[in-house]
Amino acid sequence: MALVLGIESSCDETAVALVDSQRRIVAQRIASQDAEHAPFGGVVPEIAARAHAERLAPMIEGVLADAGIALADCDAIAATAGPGLIGGVMVGLVSAKALAMATDTPLIAINHLEGHALSPRLADETIEFPYALLLVSGGHCQILRIDGVGQYRRLATTIDDALGEAFDKTAKILGFGFPGGPAVERKALVGNAAAVPLPRPMVGSGEPHFSFAGLKSAVLRAHESRQYAVADIAASFQQAAVDCVTDRLRIALAGMEDVDTLVVAGGVAANTVVRNALEQLAANRAMRFAAPPPKLCTDNAAMIAWAGIERLGQNDPLDIAARPRWPL
Ligand code: KG4
Ligand code: ZN
Repeated sequence: MALVLGIESSCDETAVALVDSQRRIVAQRIASQDAEHAPFGGVVPEIAARAHAERLAPMIEGVLADAGIALADCDAIAATAGPGLIGGVMVGLVSAKALAMATDTPLIAINHLEGHALSPRLADETIEFPYALLLVSGGHCQILRIDGVGQYRRLATTIDDALGEAFDKTAKILGFGFPGGPAVERKALVGNAAAVPLPRPMVGSGEPHFSFAGLKSAVLRAHESRQYAVADIAASFQQAAVDCVTDRLRIALAGMEDVDTLVVAGGVAANTVVRNALEQLAANRAMRFAAPPPKLCTDNAAMIAWAGIERLGQNDPLDIAARPRWPL
């Protein structure tokens, strides 16, 4: 049985996890930086990098202690090498390099998006390739065909904002604070999703791409009109976003007739309304639907360690670079 230490530091979550090849999360710790960034209404890269630098080493020590495992017992050290906020990525990757060098353990540099893309396989051993993936987070909004580890074909992306970004901006406009997605979902529970007429950008387009900038502007206009309750705007926004996602997926899936599994991953996959709509869409197409548990959807190190398990045998050079941009 193999055991991998995973390190994630590409945005505002410092995370460390030990995962084994039997899909057990042996130990994990996650430190959120929400409190540090909240006064600024968004993630401040410099603050994020400093927080990772302060927290990461003691967290690695803590995870190993929780599991009663020595670093030398790990078969590899997997760290996010991008894409993300470069200061934070460097903290995690350089830490992993130092540990790999000191213990003569293989280093595996992981693409953060691959971590999300493979996370459903950590949660559920019956998910096999190929599958269609909706990857929706704060920085990314893509539809991919996943044929195997490292075999990814991107069918759709966003021409402006990511879906999580649209949730975050809507939350900011409505005064819900940061982070926005969960706050919008909570407020939408007590709102009327049909109360505010909002656009569904790109719906009806023959290409499966996304756009959310127009929706965000419409949310701002609706709020400034003072005609609507914030809960109604939140619910109407969420419904418009869900309608966009299901329409875009329908177009993309039409080009993947041989794929019978639909998977959602990334932070927005934690949203129950989004999950339910996707489950319905999959059922209508006689496809299987899978979504990792919400804790595996938002940024975490278990998915990075798992990607390391999927890539065991890889041994990246110690001069491998941290990458702010790194398309899958
Ligand atoms: O994957 P993630 O943790 O970090 C990135 O790689 O971006 O995703 C964070 C994003 C944020 O935009 C956050 O608002 C959104 O996921 N999010 C949600 C929910 N939980 C997190 N959006 C809508 N509903 C949620 N429940
Ligand atoms: Zn992420």
